This record gives sequence, C-alpha cells and structure tokens, in this order.
Amino acid sequence: MSVAAPLVFDPADEAVRRNPFAVFARLRDEDPVHWSPALKTWVVTRYDDVRDVAMTADLSPNRLAPFYASLRDERRSMLAEVMRYLSVWLVFRDPPEHTRLRRLLNGVVNPKLVAAMRPSIRRVVDEVLDRVAGRDEIDFASEVAALVPAWVILDMLGIPRERFDEIKVWSDDMRTFIGTSRGEPARYERVQRGAHAMAAFFREAIAERRAEPRDDVISRMIAATDDEGRLSEDELVGTCMLILFGGHETTTSLLTNGVNALLEHPGELARLRADPALLESAVEEFLRYDGPSLSIARVVAQDHELGGRVLARGERVYAMVSAANRDPRQFERPDTLDLGRSPNRHLTFGFGIHFCLGAPLARLEGQACVAALLERFPRLARGAGEPQWLDAMVMRGLTRLPLRLA
Ligand code: HEM
Repeated sequence: MSVAAPLVFDPADEAVRRNPFAVFARLRDEDPVHWSPALKTWVVTRYDDVRDVAMTADLSPNRLAPFYASLRDERRSMLAEVMRYLSVWLVFRDPPEHTRLRRLLNGVVNPKLVAAMRPSIRRVVDEVLDRVAGRDEIDFASEVAALVPAWVILDMLGIPRERFDEIKVWSDDMRTFIGTSRGEPARYERVQRGAHAMAAFFREAIAERRAEPRDDVISRMIAATDDEGRLSEDELVGTCMLILFGGHETTTSLLTNGVNALLEHPGELARLRADPALLESAVEEFLRYDGPSLSIARVVAQDHELGGRVLARGERVYAMVSAANRDPRQFERPDTLDLGRSPNRHLTFGFGIHFCLGAPLARLEGQACVAALLERFPRLARGAGEPQWLDAMVMRGLTRLPLRLA
C-alpha cells in the first residue's frame, strides 16, 4: 500500500526517539507490515501481528548466524570469540536447543527464587536511595535507575558490587554491538574487548564455585541438570553474560520510563500516592505505556505471510512492541496512562517460548523502586534540563532524567 507522506521509522531521529508513538499510529493504520528501505527490515506494528511474529516457527530469533556468515573474513575472525558466547544465549536459539536451555534455567531463575528476593531487593533500593537522599536534584537515570538492577543482578549472581564499574564498561562495549541502531566505527573492536573481558571474568567466577559452591545463581546453574545433562562451560559463561546484560539495562529503562510517565501525569502520581494497592497494576501500566522493549527482532527462516505481505526467507523483521502496546484494536484508550488498567496484556516481556525469564524479577524491582520513591520523597518533580532517550532499535529508555527530590 502506498502512503501520502514518506512513512519512516528512524530511531536515529531525535524527535522520533522522544515520541515514536505518532509514527507508530500511522504505521498501524496505513502500513501495518511495513518494509523499511532505510533499515532494510520489516517493521510490524499491530498487536496481533507482533504476537504472530513472536509465536511463529517460520521466524527465528537467530539473527546472529546469517549476520556472521555475511561478514568479511577479517571481521569474522575479530568476532569469533563474541559469537562463541552469544550463540549460546537462549534468546537467540530455536528449539530444540532453546527448549533444553530454558528447561535448565527455569529450574534456577523462577518465581520462587524471585519471591524470596523481595526483602533484599527493597534493601538494595533503600541503599541506592540513601546515597542521593538529602540532595535537591539528581539524575535519576544514572544515579538510581542504573544502579538498582545492577546491584540486584550482581547480588543474585554472587558477584561483589565493587566490580560493577569494570563490568559496566564491558557491558557498554557489548551494547554498541547488540542494541544500537547506528554503526559506531569501532564497534567490532569494542564488542570483542567487552565480551573477552566479561567471559574471562565469569570463567573465573565459575571455577571458584566449582571448587566451592555458594548460595548464588552461578552455583545453581553449575548444579542444574536434567535427562539431557548439564550446561556446558561455554553455556554457563554465555548465560551469565546474558543474565547480566538482559537483566540490567532493560530494568533500568523500566525505572526511568516509569518515573518519567509519572512526572508527565501528576494526576496518576497523586492517585498512586493515595492508593498504594495500585502498585502492581501501575508497574504493568508503565511496562505497557512506555516500556523498555521497543521491539523484538527476528529473521525469516521460512517464507511467512503476514497482513497480506510475504516475509521472505533471510529478511529481517522488527516487531515493534511499543507500537503493539498502544494498539487501539487491543487496548481501550491506549494513549492514556491508567495505573488501574485491567486487563493489561502488554507484550513488553515478549510472547511464546521466549517470554522473558526475568519478568518476575523486573516486576518486583519496579514495584520496590516506585514504592520507595513515593514513601521517601513526597515532593518528587521534574528537574531542570531535558530528558535524553537512548538511540536504539530494540530498547527504549532514558539515559538522563533530571529529578527533583525536595
Ligand atoms: C523490564 C525489564 C525487562 C524487559 C522489558 C525484558 C524483556 C524481554 C523480552 C522482550 C524478551 C523476549 C525477547 C525475544 O522474544 O526476542 C526477554 C527474554 C529474556 N529475558 Fe528479559 N526483560 C527484562 C528483564 C530481565 C531480567 C531482570 C532478566 C534476568 C534475570 C532477563 C532475562 C531474560 C532472558 C534470559 C531471556 C531469554 C528467554 C528465552 O529466550 O527463553 N530479563 N526479555
């Protein structure tokens, strides 16, 4: 279908980054399964279609293999070590490998473990907030939202928090490769450096726990076993990286985007203060209204028909979760933040076999952080300066969010 004005989703455009929802609305109505010549990918925006992309076996999350195969020799050898670990990430795997990895990990990271972490998560939140309490104004993104999920995940893995600064550098190096929309010139060197350092770090942590098991998730992953055996050494290293990487910045973005949504809606903020029982549904609404998952990415493994278009083998597909979560075909008043919204079947944690392993943890972190902020700072308000949005294709979050505490 042709459209009147060029209909482009360009996450590198600052205005689109600030508010992608207007272009998403047009795409949903005018060209729901859109071929973007600029991005050379399909961009899918309706709720039912995004679910279809997440569910169908015709589309594979393993977009690494074709990308790697397409590289020049020199780049391929530069990325060999990165691929060694990323290729065991279950988020990139299809069944049956995915089924085996997921079964083993479900035994380790699950709602029972997370429920037991509730008090320690609140302690982490309070420790982080203690560091900024007493100040009039902070950057909520870097001073709170980046720290809470990092400390929670490090505690869970049994890694000392003092190592965070180094780990953050490696994680940022890897993000330039995995999450961003634009090619940084030095991105191959950076991802190689980050992945190498992080893998060496986890290899050592695993060796220490093989010698002497502890009460942490790495020790439990080492011990996890089923009829088909255990996780291999590379699977253990890769999965530690995935948990650290997948569990950190996504949750940071939940916190920044949630607080930003509250600042934009003083009425809803007052409603939540007056009725703390809304906390759980409030976090679900933050996840829907402006959640951290901009999109989920797939590559076409077998030709697949969607919305009258044929997605051909080898083509890339971005299923825009943020667009699906505002689809009026699924949600009433989708552009309204309603902290009591029910039902709220948002797709922010994905759908189907790859549904986020860390969803219960992220939810709990969101609830703990928002509860503590409201209890401890009765006069929260927007601080001076503009919020800044991440330049990325799969993630949506704020890198800067000025916040007045008093
Ligand atoms: C608000 C925070 C989070 C969001 C929005 C989020 C989002 C997602 C999404 C959309 C997927 C599916 C990706 C796909 O289908 O391609 C996913 C998978 C996954 N997430 Fe999360 N995530 C969050 C927090 C976490 C945390 C805290 C952890 C770590 C404990 C984690 C670990 C994982 C893992 C291991 C997978 C792969 C699951 C599989 O492939 O079976 N996530 N996440």
